[in-house]
Amino acid sequence: MREHLFSWGYKGIRSLIKQSVFYRQRRKQKVHDLEDVVNSGKTLVSLFNNRIFSTFLFQFKTKSSLEVSIYDLTFASPLTFSAYEAHIPLLDVFFKLGVGGGAFKTIRLHPHTGNERPRIQEILIDNEPCLINAMGLPSKGVKRTMKEILSSSLLTYNRPIGLSIGGETVQEYKDLFKIIEASLSSSDFPFYVEINISCPNTKEGQRLSEDVSLLEELLSHIRSYSHRVISVKLSPDQTNASLIEMRDAISKFPKMMINVGNTQFKTCEAVSINKKSLSRGGGGVSGPYIYKRTLEMIKLLMPCSVPIIATGGIDSVEKVSECLDAGASLIGMASALVFDPYSIVRITKALHKQK
Ligand SMILES: Cc1cc2nc3c(=O)[nH]c(=O)nc-3n(C[C@H](O)[C@H](O)[C@H](O)COP(=O)(O)O)c2cc1C
Repeated sequence: MREHLFSWGYKGIRSLIKQSVFYRQRRKQKVHDLEDVVNSGKTLVSLFNNRIFSTFLFQFKTKSSLEVSIYDLTFASPLTFSAYEAHIPLLDVFFKLGVGGGAFKTIRLHPHTGNERPRIQEILIDNEPCLINAMGLPSKGVKRTMKEILSSSLLTYNRPIGLSIGGETVQEYKDLFKIIEASLSSSDFPFYVEINISCPNTKEGQRLSEDVSLLEELLSHIRSYSHRVISVKLSPDQTNASLIEMRDAISKFPKMMINVGNTQFKTCEAVSINKKSLSRGGGGVSGPYIYKRTLEMIKLLMPCSVPIIATGGIDSVEKVSECLDAGASLIGMASALVFDPYSIVRITKALHKQK
């Protein structure tokens, strides 16, 4: 009950913020830029995620009957947040709402500002709200990010956290993994690493998804010294043949997961928005529009000896069940959480009812 009320409240406040931000941008004759809306939302959530309000607004109980164990990781439920967010107070709220675990936004070796703004917009496709982004993996850099994560409240939930890594060259991924392993040497927290080889918004972000031998070289190198669970995030833009080739390569290594998948690249013209709406003239579409491809990818990769994380357009218990029935072990969500974080509570409760 409470989650329905707060969900309406959240969506109402978000809509008001959006209208007022867009109104101000129009008055200054600027192109709409959703990032100002997103940033205002984060500031608001941080303000309310305190001792006075957070228990009432965000704390929901989770029962253990939805637990999913993969290798040495135990997720409180199959629902996870996908790597898209680095704002710790917001991730903390997702845990309070009952998410089973999740992945931190892609970390780069060095600080990186990402692409020029505007770089994220809300669009309607087939009458359903979706996002298109060309953020370009902004990051504070691995050293600062690891320090922040390790001293954060996120560790108090003891639910697995994925550290997504991204780079332009194999060497960069190797260096990132090494620094992460070193910073985790005295931690027994259930961290896993997600190798993002599918970002459509950087110059070389998809090089590893285009060349299976580069991915194999990277995994062989990492496995020569680390037993940590590793997920590889594939792209819905890869051909079916390439996805199967990647699955077969990944399956040769122990303690692996496959995440299907990332956003789907579209130009501004293809989604009927002004070409100035995104500084790169296009970006990755996420949300309900890409769900069909997510399900298709799971079915294509099954049977698969490696656990699959289904990501892309998942926003309801029906879609969660369909993906789990198709063979996925975990669910990743990003856009659905931007539009309504209380969907975590609604879906979790509906999954309990199905048990
Ligand atoms: C604003 C935004 C930023 C994202 N940043 C990342 C990222 O840093 N690393 C990554 O692997 N995926 C990133 N993604 C992709 C999501 O993790 C997810 O794979 C994709 O959005 C599809 O899921 P969805 O339809 O539930 O949003 C981003 C998505 C959005 C919308």
